[in-house]
Amino acid sequence: MCCTFAAHFFIDKTSNRAMKHLIAPSLLAADFSNLKKDIELINNSEADWFHLDIMDGVFVPNISFGIPVLESIKPLAKKPFDVHLMITQPERYIETFKNAGADLFNVHYEASTHLHRTVQTVHANNMKAGVTLNPHTPISVLEDIVAELDLVLLMSVNPGFGGQKFIENTYNKVEQLKELILKKNSRALIQVDGGVDNTNAAQLVEKGADVLVAGSYVFKSANPEETIKGLKELNF
Ligand code: DX5
Ligand code: ZN
Repeated sequence: MCCTFAAHFFIDKTSNRAMKHLIAPSLLAADFSNLKKDIELINNSEADWFHLDIMDGVFVPNISFGIPVLESIKPLAKKPFDVHLMITQPERYIETFKNAGADLFNVHYEASTHLHRTVQTVHANNMKAGVTLNPHTPISVLEDIVAELDLVLLMSVNPGFGGQKFIENTYNKVEQLKELILKKNSRALIQVDGGVDNTNAAQLVEKGADVLVAGSYVFKSANPEETIKGLKELNF
């Protein structure tokens, strides 16, 4: 394997936070007729992870791509796979996604009834464990699980599609989540996904976001590598 996930986690041991925010471009907005080109683009860029959106047409009203695609692109990718599962009962596929190359297995709070067991099983399969909250789900539901998590993803759009408008209430949620993480002494990174671009990235990081996901803003731009660099350096 090219790289361990830990090497890309960049944790500051003193503060237990990511040292610099991370960028995870979402392949949902990539060119599916030439995925190899866009994977190499991410490999050669300042991006930290690949964000992979798995949709089942049930939990969200869209179907994206699945296991065979992950298996095919894994050997080409030089950065960790951050897998965002927008599927019902994601715990059914923990081992399958591990075998397909997932480094972080991220389930929706709204989709996994026995969340604590799911997180334990993800760790038992040597993956980082993430939990995602939809825009309407309050931070408080994480009180008794956040200490076990490696990452919490806050959706800043309703999941299912790329290219949607950023929901402003996400700023408040990042602040609330950061408070909870500190209170519970959790190592969880804060990730934000949906409508992230040059108009909100800096403020998100300032409020406490550790990982920014960006799909359309990166892949629909004239120079995606430069766009990723801009997000990394918060220089637009
Ligand atoms: C939406 C996905 C996102 C999506 C983001 O359900 O979870 O990761 O790809 O796309 P943009 O950045 O275009 O909003
Ligand atoms: Zn996503």
